[in-house]
Amino acid sequence: MDHFLYKDGVLHAEDVAIPEIAAVVGTPFYVYSAATLTRHFQLFDAALEGTDHLVCFAIKSNSNLAVLKLLGNLGAGMDVVSGGEYRRAKAAGVPGERIVFSGVGKTREEITLALTGGIRQFNVESEPELCAISEVASTLGVVAPIALRVNPDVDAKTHEKIATGKSENKFGIPIAKARAVYAEAAKLPGIAVVGVDVHIGSQLTELEPFEAAFTKVRELTLALREDGHDIRRLDLGGGLGIPYTRSNEAPPLPVEYGAMIKRVLGDLGCEIEIEPGRLISGNAGLMVSSVIYVKEGEGRNFLILDAAMNDLVRPSMYGAHHDIVPVIEAEPGTEPAAFDVVGPVCETGDTFAKGRNLTPMGEGDLVAFRSAGAYGAVMASEYNSRPLIPEVLVEGDHFAVIRQRPSFEEMLARDSIPVWL
Ligand code: LLP
Repeated sequence: MDHFLYKDGVLHAEDVAIPEIAAVVGTPFYVYSAATLTRHFQLFDAALEGTDHLVCFAIKSNSNLAVLKLLGNLGAGMDVVSGGEYRRAKAAGVPGERIVFSGVGKTREEITLALTGGIRQFNVESEPELCAISEVASTLGVVAPIALRVNPDVDAKTHEKIATGKSENKFGIPIAKARAVYAEAAKLPGIAVVGVDVHIGSQLTELEPFEAAFTKVRELTLALREDGHDIRRLDLGGGLGIPYTRSNEAPPLPVEYGAMIKRVLGDLGCEIEIEPGRLISGNAGLMVSSVIYVKEGEGRNFLILDAAMNDLVRPSMYGAHHDIVPVIEAEPGTEPAAFDVVGPVCETGDTFAKGRNLTPMGEGDLVAFRSAGAYGAVMASEYNSRPLIPEVLVEGDHFAVIRQRPSFEEMLARDSIPVWL
């Protein structure tokens, strides 16, 4: 459920009409609903009720400070994968003890930043990284809490570019090697082993791969405890998928996911962490764009928008589907027509949808891309020297610009021409 509904034929974000925002900020832009973000976070929190737990929002899905502040105020922890994301979490007021640091290649600078600023745990992905963390911690005179990210060799049954839990993927430590690496970790002076971490992929639409991975984590936890390790925390990663269409697509609900976690792992007495990104932010955001031209091609019509692949890369990068809807509903009885929906960037890949049925549109009409709150703005670039598009947050009947569109002067001022030219 989200809070983007039509009222009197006009698409609203909560109680704010989308054309009202467009008139103030111009198109294209992203708009997020505070009520939807809140609801999605609370669904996870409620799903794990009865167990000691922390829901750590995966910042990579949407890292706007206002979004982080909102979730942080609700008690969310944060899953960060870079020094930049760590700084964002801190800037949003989230304390170090609620920040977990994931990622396959943390640098010594990033490790130092987190150890000095406070960290709940590092999710460690290799032996060299483990040694680096120990060395940095020892130099600083502290001990780093860690979980090892294990690779359970489970097929997440998702898009190959976002599956992470198979042995051929670059992520984690092979689960068969885990006991040996934990034994090494226990000997390192700067390391305190606190748990086990796993993340098998993103946009999973079934519970079965999660359950297979968590069952392996359970077995490993029991074995590690036998080896004398104090495993008190399990980080189960993110990955629960969302519906990208309004049809009958229905991925498992957070409550079902939570029930499965409790069933598989509940008796271990461990604190449970999860790292959802997409399910919290994905359907809490739209990207709104205007039609520049309608172009008649041979046997097809193109809807040329002012948004492009640089603003929302998912369709061209993963062949991802985003529902595209008119902001002003067509008169009842209007027949839809097929359009290829494209942006102005000079690449054929700059295509959002092919042969998509939409009510006929004209120049200046507004369209909204649904499910754009996750991996939308964060993956945008300035390709073709197109400014990053603004982000807007709606709460009830008011809205705020939470990231301005940069001016062309600001963009040009970032470059400098060497004196010899
Ligand atoms: N934890 C870790 C360690 C991750 O690598 C990820 C996502 C998450 C949590 C959050 O997963 P989520 O709950 O959002 O599925 N750009 C791609 C998605 C990449 C996901 C990368 N890792 C897309 O647009 O589909």
